[in-house]
Amino acid sequence: MSVAYSERQRAMLQEMGIRVWASPVPVPVAASVPVVEAAAEKVVAPVVVAAPVANPASVSAQGIALRPSGVAAMDWDALRAAVSSCRACALCERRTQTVFGTGHPQAQWMLIGEAPGEQEDRQGEPFVGKAGQLLDNMLRAVGLTRGEAPAHEQVYIANVLKCRPPQNRNPEPQEVAQCEPYLLRQIALVQPKLILAMGRFAVQSLLKTGEPIGRLRGRVHEVPGLPGVPVVVTYHPAYLLRNPMDKARSWEDLCLAREVMTDV
Ligand code: URA
Repeated sequence: MSVAYSERQRAMLQEMGIRVWASPVPVPVAASVPVVEAAAEKVVAPVVVAAPVANPASVSAQGIALRPSGVAAMDWDALRAAVSSCRACALCERRTQTVFGTGHPQAQWMLIGEAPGEQEDRQGEPFVGKAGQLLDNMLRAVGLTRGEAPAHEQVYIANVLKCRPPQNRNPEPQEVAQCEPYLLRQIALVQPKLILAMGRFAVQSLLKTGEPIGRLRGRVHEVPGLPGVPVVVTYHPAYLLRNPMDKARSWEDLCLAREVMTDV
C-alpha cells in the first residue's frame, strides 16, 4: 500500500514543515507501509521495508563483485575491510570515507543509528556531531560511555548505513538493504545483551516494520532472525535536538533498557 498526495496536499504539507517522501525508483519490497511519524518528527513517509538481501556478493551487470561474499562469516578485520571497499550502492561515489562503528567489540549495549552525517563522513566515526554530544550525555547519565572502559560500561555504536547520504537525505530502501549484511554481522560479532535502536530508520529496518516509534516504544522487541537479543526503541538524538520535549520520553526508554539489562 502506498500514499499518493495531490499537488495541493503536498504544498500544504510542505507549508506545515512536513516533508513528503516517495521512492524515486521501484525496489523489491517485502512490505510497504505508509507511516505518519510522531507529529513532531515532521516526516510523512511511505516507509518501504526492503526484502532482505542475500548474503552472497552483490554483483554488477558486468559481473564485478560490489560487496564481497561471505560477510556473514567475516571477522572484525575482514568486515572492516569489506565495508571500506564497498561499492554496493551509489553512496560510495560521494563518501569521504566509510563510517564503520566504534566502541567495545564485546560491549553489552549496542546502539544503532541511521547514517553518517557531514562530520561523521569527515572523521570516520559515528555520532561525532551535535547529536553525538547529546548521545554521549545520555549515555553518561546511565553510566555508559563510548570511550575507554570495561565491556560492561562501554557501548558499541554503529549505523544502518556506513556511507553518508548526500545532504543527509533519508536512506533509500535499496541502500538499507545493501548495507544490512554488514550491520547484521556487526551484531553477530558484538553479541550484545541489548540493542538500543535510535530513530525511525534504525528501528524500522531492524524490526522489519512500518510502525512509528511512538507505537513501538515502551516494550521490548527482537530482530527477526536474531532471537534472544532484546531491542529497545527510542528517538534519534538529532530528533531530540529539534524536539527537546521528547527528551523525557527518551529517558524513559533508557530506563527501560537498563531494567532489561538487569534481567539478562
Ligand atoms: N546520525 C546518525 O544516525 N548516525 C551518525 O553517525 C550521526 C548522526
